[in-house]
Amino acid sequence: MSFLDVLKPGLFTDRTLFVTGGGSGINLGIARVFAQLGANITICGRTEAKLSSAAAELSSLGAQVCTVVADVRDYAAVAEAFGASEQRFGPVDTVVCGAAGNFVARAEDLSANGFKTVVDIDLLGSFNASRAGFSQLRQSKGCLIFISAAQAYVPFAYQAHVGAAKAGVDALMRNLALEWGVYGIRCNSVAPGPIEGTEGMKRLGEVSGRDTWTSMIPLGRYGTTDEVGAIVAVLASRLGAYVTGAQVLVDGGQGLTGSSAFNQAVAAVLPPTTDGV
Ligand code: COA
Repeated sequence: MSFLDVLKPGLFTDRTLFVTGGGSGINLGIARVFAQLGANITICGRTEAKLSSAAAELSSLGAQVCTVVADVRDYAAVAEAFGASEQRFGPVDTVVCGAAGNFVARAEDLSANGFKTVVDIDLLGSFNASRAGFSQLRQSKGCLIFISAAQAYVPFAYQAHVGAAKAGVDALMRNLALEWGVYGIRCNSVAPGPIEGTEGMKRLGEVSGRDTWTSMIPLGRYGTTDEVGAIVAVLASRLGAYVTGAQVLVDGGQGLTGSSAFNQAVAAVLPPTTDGV
């Protein structure tokens, strides 16, 4: 079954989606869903080639697409991207703060800059996009969707940087939901579980093995980017009109099983250090 059997193809006609990190993975998947539902799309990211290829795909689905090279850690670049989007499409309706970084590293091996890099991309990047998009969202009474992760609420081994960053993203989401409700701006986060074909799962699966992850999912399979995009679409549509401050898990139940299978698998590959003990 396709989401198009449930959601109307013209659902987002004349509405605009802005996605950070929109050149690939779950973020591009969300843009793909919105493109098929009639939205104009703006994507920003660090790599021009990825943005061009994503734009070609989104255009082939019928969307008007604006691409801007911008690193979410650079507020001025993000603000410029929102300016370019507004010039092309008018005020944005939905902003997805999706740009993220991840690698597997023992906390004792992580440099301060390694920790900061992931916090800057995920957390500061989410603030930058929210802040730069605020005046447009205020005009449209639009919504913000933050891409969170299971690491935000359960510790995963060798993911100290990611857990801290994503927990911060959820805290930011709730704070903005509290402050910006008065402007009609809704803020929610979506925490995808293991999703097929994404860079994040490639990095995590390379160390722990793909089967470890499958064993952690009650529904017994990885999810698809369409399945994440469809929930984002529901939250962004009028169906989500009374939902704000929520963290929505789209994870096949993975959050119910914790992280110990992953922790054991990665510890077998990368055991705790014993130097000097
Ligand atoms: N283990 C430990 N430290 C690592 C690391 C790893 N695998 N990869 C990067 N780092 C550290 C670097 O050593 C550096 O710290 P240092 O200056 O003390 O040496 C710091 O992180 C920054 O690395 P750099 O490569 O300069 O950062 P970047 O901004 O170019 O890239 C990353 C950001 C590191 C997150 C990179 O992996 C990336 O671009 N990821 C995007 C894609 C992605 O992660 N997708 C999954 C999303 S869920």
